[in-house]
Amino acid sequence: MKVLMTYDMYRDGFIELFERYDVTHPERKDFSFEEVMEMIPSYDVLCPMFNFPVNKELIDKAPKLRFIANYAVGYNNIDVAYALKRGIAVANTPDPVIAPTANLALGLMIDVARRITECDRKLRIQRDTMKIGILNNMGTSITGQTLGILGMGRIGKALCKRARACGMEIIYHNRRQLDIEEETKLNVTYVSFDDLLKKSDFLSINAPYSPETYHIIDEKALKSMKSSAILINTARGALVDEHALVNALKNNYIRGAALDVFEFGDFPVPELLELENVVLTPHIGTQTERARFEMAKTVSNNVIGFIEGDRKVFLITSWML
Ligand code: GLV
Repeated sequence: MKVLMTYDMYRDGFIELFERYDVTHPERKDFSFEEVMEMIPSYDVLCPMFNFPVNKELIDKAPKLRFIANYAVGYNNIDVAYALKRGIAVANTPDPVIAPTANLALGLMIDVARRITECDRKLRIQRDTMKIGILNNMGTSITGQTLGILGMGRIGKALCKRARACGMEIIYHNRRQLDIEEETKLNVTYVSFDDLLKKSDFLSINAPYSPETYHIIDEKALKSMKSSAILINTARGALVDEHALVNALKNNYIRGAALDVFEFGDFPVPELLELENVVLTPHIGTQTERARFEMAKTVSNNVIGFIEGDRKVFLITSWML
């Protein structure tokens, strides 16, 4: 069984995989798309990183490929519909990303609300001009405020529990409404997308990216949010129209934003860097030692489970698309 990994990291998490199969991975640097295109014809399993495109072109070059094990919960880098059509199964790593991503979303929410990064930045670089005193650097409370969660999957639910511990009310919008028992247990209220925009003091995006969710937060959506609202995106960049967001922040359609993911790759549009009411992080939602190791273990378990049938495999099914 030949396994091709596009990256080289957390080898400890892949020990069992290396012991069992013939695994190829790069040394430190990732394989390029061209390199993978060259190698793929002889491989049975592909393990891509979440930003590695597994498109039709690549799949068509892979006659032996049976399984794709993504290193991520998100799978928008893979043409899953085409892979499934070709009889290739696809899996992701949902469990290890839940807590770190929900923790980051809560952290970013508090950061923007209480202006933590902004104050830190000013103390460092505007020491002489920064205004200090009890009426300056006033933030907003999260306690007693309404958090709107767009996408009530595993991460949305984990964020919901954390936010409730901080005394927030939770409303949510999702493709499918949760069943009543789960809503009661989580103490959340389902609302339409329009109501989510109108009623949220904080709006956290926790939905997967797909052609249907492209720019779901566009100019119209931003205009219908509260002018005091704070937007948090830890999902995928293109869910938000980043140029429209700049405009909304400059014109006070909303109060602030925090982004861990950007529409056009690794960096935000430059105008965002100029705005004080924005916190930006470089896709660190799952960037903890523990999460990275556990994601590696999950990729490894997914591959072994798929081949041997001896453990759980986190398969992506067509109804999830
Ligand atoms: C990270 O972005 C993931 O999808 O796991």
